[in-house]
Amino acid sequence: MRKRIVAGNWKMNMELTEGIALAKDINNHFSASPLKDNCEVILCTPFIHLSSVSSALTVSGLSVGAQNCNDHKSGAYTGEVSAAMIRSAGALNVILGHSERRTLYGEDDSLLAAKTTEALRNGLRVIFCCGEVLAEREKGIHFDVVKRHLEKGLFMLNREEFSKCIIAYEPVWAIGTGVTASPAQAQEMHHFIRGLVEKQYSKQVAEETTILYGGSCKASNAAELFANADVDGGLIGGASLMKDEFCNIVNAL
Ligand code: PGA
Repeated sequence: MRKRIVAGNWKMNMELTEGIALAKDINNHFSASPLKDNCEVILCTPFIHLSSVSSALTVSGLSVGAQNCNDHKSGAYTGEVSAAMIRSAGALNVILGHSERRTLYGEDDSLLAAKTTEALRNGLRVIFCCGEVLAEREKGIHFDVVKRHLEKGLFMLNREEFSKCIIAYEPVWAIGTGVTASPAQAQEMHHFIRGLVEKQYSKQVAEETTILYGGSCKASNAAELFANADVDGGLIGGASLMKDEFCNIVNAL
């Protein structure tokens, strides 16, 4: 059975003490009411929190992730953080290809492919984001855009490497806007993505791939999104910064 996952993307929020406090609250919650066997929660924090938040999480099913990594192994890249450093801080996951990285920092498909390869080489699990902007959906090319993101950023991996990746479909028009994709829109795209994975790898790999939805997902709409056959959880931005809201989203799994 494929994993069902809720990942919080804290983005550039939370000073260190606030982040540790939030992580401890979340840890306490799942210590009192444990996650089901096939469910996981990932906290994707700023780099500076990784080590402390990793130590704060003691409950099984909870792990930490970064939100980016460099594509090089090490060296003269001032201000950058490598996949090996992230892993050494106790994190097991990394988000790559988030639309904010693609748009604000100009990360393109080939850079993301290199980052993905480097992350996997260092034992990180990759949460790979894809998704169209509003104009692309209005033009009816949203399936083409998502297909390109996956083909260029992920499908160069062999089957074994790919099995260490989680896909997050995040329509850019839904991120931080309060406008959520309808359950039908999410299911339609997730089904399409699973079909692409089947074509590239196999039916078995497709069935085992976790595909998350992201974009204004909150406690009040999580259950109807997660109820869809191909929606295996969520990547949560704003709502991951509030303990009760976040834990209620996880409960919807
Ligand atoms: P949001 O962000 O939940 O605040 O819309 C989701 C994301 O960017 O991952």
